[in-house]
Amino acid sequence: MKSYETILIDKAGGVTTIRFNRPDKRNAMNPQLHRDMYDALTELEFDDETKVLVITGQGEAFCAGQDLKEYFYEKKDDPRGREEARRMSHAWRHQKLRYFPRPTIAEINGWCFGGAFTVVASVDIAVAASEATFGLSEINFGHIPGGLVTKVVQEIVQPRQALYYILTGEPFTGARAAEIGLVTMAVPKAELHAKVMDIAATLMKKDPEAMRACKEVFKAVTPEVTYEDAWYWLSSKSDQLTYRQKGGWIEEGIGRFMKKEYRPGLGTPPPEKERA
Ligand code: COA
Repeated sequence: MKSYETILIDKAGGVTTIRFNRPDKRNAMNPQLHRDMYDALTELEFDDETKVLVITGQGEAFCAGQDLKEYFYEKKDDPRGREEARRMSHAWRHQKLRYFPRPTIAEINGWCFGGAFTVVASVDIAVAASEATFGLSEINFGHIPGGLVTKVVQEIVQPRQALYYILTGEPFTGARAAEIGLVTMAVPKAELHAKVMDIAATLMKKDPEAMRACKEVFKAVTPEVTYEDAWYWLSSKSDQLTYRQKGGWIEEGIGRFMKKEYRPGLGTPPPEKERA
């Protein structure tokens, strides 16, 4: 894997970790980071060694949002550069990361502001340190949560709480982020990495094609989709999965339950070679 100016990539035991690596700038996202993320995710989406993708931050921050200097201030008289940065910034978070074919986890180790909320929203599972600090700080510098920040916050955070934090710009903890639905869960910082690795280990035991189909349908059947359309979509996805797995979920998944080899209600079956 090639090396990048603004991110670090590490692979171990099926888990690929991307680490935002601008700790001196609290991992704020500058145009180069957007380019690096787009490039890295494009490479990793076809990488056989990547069974689970983790995104975290180097140092004390997860990500302080868009780089206020390089992404906004220095681009104020450069519409072309601004548009390039904006498109790249959108593409990696809302196309590449949101639809990444493997499960994705954010390990939110510290500061998390503004534009970083869309990273949190685009991953499948977000685990925060209870002590981390979150904030929709845009109002504090006289702006709106732009890009797709307002959209994702409206989708995943309790609406009364979302608008409160948008309007006040008040910072809140990782524990609070879990209460209002922004993250999946919060754990003490000392336990954060172990918890993320635990979840990754669980995900790696599941069938990868089924995992991918679960993600795809979940992200497709949004509240705007009608019941009728969702039904057609899910039926087609089920048939596509049967084709991709060559019938595996019926023959292997249900077949082994019928032979009383495991209870699906209580977990994934042991690998075939470990059968009694
Ligand atoms: N964009 C650009 N630079 C940023 C940044 C951002 N979003 N967040 C932090 N930095 C830079 C600072 O300019 C400073 O750079 P310098 O050392 O070259 O002067 C460095 O990171 C450290 O920042 P500092 O404010 O001294 O760190 P801190 O630990 O005291 O505070 C924050 C951390 C994140 C609370 C604070 O930096 C902050 O409020 N950042 C802006 C967050 C924000 O509004 N993000 C929304 C963007 S959409």
